[in-house]
Amino acid sequence: MREDSVTIDNGHLKLIGKACELIANSHTVVAFTGAGVSSESGISVFRGSGGIWQKFNPALYGNLPGLALVFILNPERIEAFVREAASAFAVAKPNSAHESIAKLEHAGFISGVITQNVDNLHREAGSLNIFEVHGNIFRARCLKCGAREDLPKRRLLENITTKRNSSLKRRELLRLLDKYTGRCACGGRRRPDIVMFGEPLPRGIFRRAMELAMKCDCIIAAGTSAIVYPAASIPEYAVRKGATLIEINPERTGLTPFARLWIPLRASVALGEIFKQLTGKANQRAGKARISAKA
Ligand code: OAD
Repeated sequence: MREDSVTIDNGHLKLIGKACELIANSHTVVAFTGAGVSSESGISVFRGSGGIWQKFNPALYGNLPGLALVFILNPERIEAFVREAASAFAVAKPNSAHESIAKLEHAGFISGVITQNVDNLHREAGSLNIFEVHGNIFRARCLKCGAREDLPKRRLLENITTKRNSSLKRRELLRLLDKYTGRCACGGRRRPDIVMFGEPLPRGIFRRAMELAMKCDCIIAAGTSAIVYPAASIPEYAVRKGATLIEINPERTGLTPFARLWIPLRASVALGEIFKQLTGKANQRAGKARISAKA
């Protein structure tokens, strides 16, 4: 459902009006996003009902040693996990939450987006200043020299997520992963450039994301449970440094008590309305300025 087909009640409109005031009166505004922002693009959230971690135990499937163990003991489950986790990524398109964040950046209302999502949808929506602190599934990283390279989206669909009549053997699974990521020019094997539990975050990206969060005076946390660290420390540090937190999430989270405003709506709806109101106000101001210049 797109945000334009939704009626927002007066209580929520008031909250959005206040959010617009906070954003318009801030110097540097940053968006901090999580899986909830992509859920309306058909990608599962991790936690809560329908979340991927309800079907696949994150203690096994969320880290490389666990995945290696399942790979040895039960390769069919790995195939099922990869297909379930990756197939939505392969076909997902940005929704109006991503689009509104990109438009807010282009209109000068926000300075950038720090995301925990690996789905590339902020980039596809047109955001420019993006910090992907958990990596990007459409990029490969060389295990030998560390070089990174973007991968075409269709390659994920062709190699990893295609439905097959019979389960793949271990060797075939590895071959497909190899085909997806390709070999590095140095000859090294590559893996999808995403962060799994227990792995460090890409240092430069995390540092620059943190710098932006520390200098912002308003942070909009949308669609995240904010329980996975160190990423979740980004909005916390921003608030400690004096930034105003606006949270957009139908559910309360650990961030909610620190939020100046909690908007319990879907991200597509809330961000779409925020963009509409902010650009409406900006147009009104420009109109008034034009009239007074003519007078
Ligand atoms: P979670 O699955 O933990 O949380 C998703 C949040 O989005 C929940 O709080 C939902 O209430 C909310 N939500 C769902 N639909 C929404 C919508 N339409 N609009 C707004 N909010 C909505 O996802 P993350 O917080 O992103 O890390 O998870 C953080 C990290 O945990 C992920 O990056 C991943 C995961 O395990 C790694 O894999 C390292």
